[in-house]
Amino acid sequence: MSRAWDRLGGRLGRIAYGGDYNPEQWPRPVWREDARLMREAGVNLVTVGVFSWAVLEPRPGHYDFGLTDEVLDLMHDHGIAVDLATPTAAPPPWFSRLHPEALPVTADGTRLWHGSRQAFCPSSPAYTEYASALVEELAKRYADHPALALWHVHNEWGNHNAHCFCDTSAAAFRRWLRQKYGTLDELNHAWGTAFWSQRYGDWEEIMPPLATPAFVNPTQHLDHQRFSSGELLALHRREAGILRRHSPGVPLTTNLMGTLEKKTDGFAFAPECDLISVDHYLTAADPRAHIGLSLDADLARGMASGEPWILMEHSTSAVNWQPRNVAKTPGQMRRNSLAHLARGADGIMFFQWRQSRAGAEKWHSAMLPHGGTDTEIWREVTSLGAALDSLAEVRGSRVRAEVAVLFDWQAWWALELEARPSQDLRYLDLVRRWYEALWSNALTCDLVHPGADLSSYRLVLVPSLYATTDADASSLAAFVERGGQAAIGFFSGVADEHDHVRLGGHPGAYRELLGLRAEEFHPLREDETIALSDGSRAGLWSERIRADGAETVLSFAADASGGPVPGGPAVTRHPYGRGSAWYIATAPEEGTLRDLLRGIAGNAGVSPAANVPIGVEAVRRHGCGTTYLFLINHTDQPARVAAEGRELLHGTQVTGLIDVPPGDVAVIREDPHGHDGPPLQAPAAHAARPSWT
Ligand code: GAL
Repeated sequence: MSRAWDRLGGRLGRIAYGGDYNPEQWPRPVWREDARLMREAGVNLVTVGVFSWAVLEPRPGHYDFGLTDEVLDLMHDHGIAVDLATPTAAPPPWFSRLHPEALPVTADGTRLWHGSRQAFCPSSPAYTEYASALVEELAKRYADHPALALWHVHNEWGNHNAHCFCDTSAAAFRRWLRQKYGTLDELNHAWGTAFWSQRYGDWEEIMPPLATPAFVNPTQHLDHQRFSSGELLALHRREAGILRRHSPGVPLTTNLMGTLEKKTDGFAFAPECDLISVDHYLTAADPRAHIGLSLDADLARGMASGEPWILMEHSTSAVNWQPRNVAKTPGQMRRNSLAHLARGADGIMFFQWRQSRAGAEKWHSAMLPHGGTDTEIWREVTSLGAALDSLAEVRGSRVRAEVAVLFDWQAWWALELEARPSQDLRYLDLVRRWYEALWSNALTCDLVHPGADLSSYRLVLVPSLYATTDADASSLAAFVERGGQAAIGFFSGVADEHDHVRLGGHPGAYRELLGLRAEEFHPLREDETIALSDGSRAGLWSERIRADGAETVLSFAADASGGPVPGGPAVTRHPYGRGSAWYIATAPEEGTLRDLLRGIAGNAGVSPAANVPIGVEAVRRHGCGTTYLFLINHTDQPARVAAEGRELLHGTQVTGLIDVPPGDVAVIREDPHGHDGPPLQAPAAHAARPSWT
């Protein structure tokens, strides 16, 4: 366990529970009531000051810590620890009046104004100067405050302002490019500027990818995304440096956004935090949003390198920023919270403690709703606090995954640049399809960076990795050579990090590993499906493959129903070293992909966490000599699952079988020697494993 968790976990002694606390929105008498109700709900950690810049520095260079002093003392008196935020995500109006050049500009040249939040250019020297001075004052004042348990740097870096196109940003972009490429020749080569007469003869000619008449240079666009994420990271490092200088022992985090944020590379930010925290919000229009939640939780654990992490924000019920903000159903918030816990969170926090009365987020749910304590939400909040107490012993235990799914923000950026073979290839959709297949098989995976150490896994899945470096491609090949199994999805490994095509047949980075060559891509028409040799259907994509050592596991149907390449290989397997590599050259329908990945996992010797009906989530956390099996029933049917041990939420003994009611959760402390999961079986609701495994 890292020192950061030793300190925070040791100090709280329990799973962290609480939310963003914004007392500046309320008169003083309300604060006392807040503190009392926090205790009633079991809250032990609150994030203070996220948007308090205007309170802390009401005029340029004039600081006023009165409110924060009082609130931190109040929290401390009530035994509630504070996650103190640097309020740099919302510069006050005086700042943009003084420095209008620091306001962000969009790609079409529109300047954005204050009156919202994150209205600053990430490359602005004035912003950096004022933000750093404020962080310095804050750190000096509170470094030794007894309530301070954690530093919370900024809020969701780049959520609203990641890409700025102002003159200052353009100059910073040029500096970044000079540093990266050294010479214009290198840059011209990397950007492929021989195409469309884009050759640069002077650094000053280079602009960020502003609105252009036709497709913008793809590598310029990709580099700008890297630069923009890097500028935010530099701001993070700067704040973190100040905080660490003043309070070296206090752990530090920033609330990352996982898949909710395309623009900031989470894997680049992760090593700059002492512990990982993430925000997660359900997409109300997604009937399987709970699977998306699990994916993000597994990504949080990947960013945390397997250590516990904190769910810094989620919602008790509806949010206010989706087209239709659907309220959560009874029990849904509890399931959501415990699903995060099941996947390694040691803290369950919300945006926000008390629902705002005014401002842009007054219709966003909170722990303490407008209706006060005689409400269903409040009852659920207090009962979740009690549930977390009964699960206190789970703190510090780890999820152990035998499957890694490679996830990469940069491959996401590259895949979704303009002028690709099909606009239907959306990175998150591709990853999610494979993830759902794992989830439905109760196969636990870590989402990790392609450069991660893969040696602890049995199976590595690559749903989509359009662009990859030679080093990362070699690391995957070495993993297979040593006996691992890998499965790679179509249109992966076809480009390098400059978005140059890897020549000689696709997918260039994996041709040898997969024992095949793809000559031509045949993306399908919108909503078109084609038949596979086992009678199932597939969509999105097909390609013309020539096997060169790979055996065909499934082909496109041999007649016209098989689409553009009738009879050609659709799924292949290639023995490589002591392992084997699979290629999935289309998007098989849900059941087929589920069977396919179950078969591949079986081949790799990977076990599910439990044999559960589809729709029941099963994950295991491993503690010292003990394991905890989480069963979350997302269906409207009772679920019977084999288990043995003590159920911690209800305090009952489980002997052989447990019935989990619809919508309910069970957490079973299993026998003291740990548990590795049952052998892989077909889930009850689905057909047996196909013969080719
Ligand atoms: C997050 C943000 C919070 C709040 C929340 C509403 O992105 O960090 O401050 O705005 O969304 O869902």
